Amino acid sequence: MLAIVGGTGMTEMPGLEVVKNFASETPLGAASAGVVQGRINEQDVLFIARHGHPHKVPPHKINYRANLWALKQAGATRVVGVNAVGGIDPALAPGDLVLPDQLIDYTHGREATFFDGRFKPLKHIDFSWPYNGALRAALSQAGRHCGQAVIEEGVYGVTQGPRLETAAEIARMASDGCTLVGMTGMPEAALARELELPYASLSLVVNPAAGVCEDEITMEEIAEALEGGMERARRLLETLIST
Ligand code: HPA
Repeated sequence: MLAIVGGTGMTEMPGLEVVKNFASETPLGAASAGVVQGRINEQDVLFIARHGHPHKVPPHKINYRANLWALKQAGATRVVGVNAVGGIDPALAPGDLVLPDQLIDYTHGREATFFDGRFKPLKHIDFSWPYNGALRAALSQAGRHCGQAVIEEGVYGVTQGPRLETAAEIARMASDGCTLVGMTGMPEAALARELELPYASLSLVVNPAAGVCEDEITMEEIAEALEGGMERARRLLETLIST
């Protein structure tokens, strides 16, 4: 069963016919919200609001472990994380949907593993290719089916937030090879891998990253890009579920 982790701008799935509401409590503490199991076009799907519903948990305070654990317990077999991001590559524009194929983790102090020697014994995982190829291909095919253009590669640099970056930080990330910047891509992707859940990110560009344009970034421009963009992301996901 596909699970969707809804990000900023996607705290719910309006088309969802709710079948079951799961409690948010897990052995790792409370998830951001209870997992909702629902149906879209006769297909079962799971949904969790990454920042809670209503949106309240900041990126560095999210209990990513509880969220992923709750999805696995509810029966998830693959997970799509939806992320609002800034565009570092100047070719990216607000409204673009991107399927990143790589990431660089700049976060710190987050509970980033189940294998911490307390909850589970220490274990190392391969993370060379952080996103699942088959799931990325399915998302890109769903994009073609519903007429949504998706950019099929990107390097997602994950920052701590909740502030946006300085222009110098973005210039450094660009020289590291990042093309996108967001605050919630990690540890989510690694935790999914630890639970052996195929995972992909569907990223929506909502602003040019700091210093990519001369102007300052306004929350109004972000809100505007989120509104239309998340609707298109939702349509793409509905197509993925239905095909
Ligand atoms: N930086 C970090 N996270 C973001 C941005 C950004 O510019 N836009 C949306 N999420």
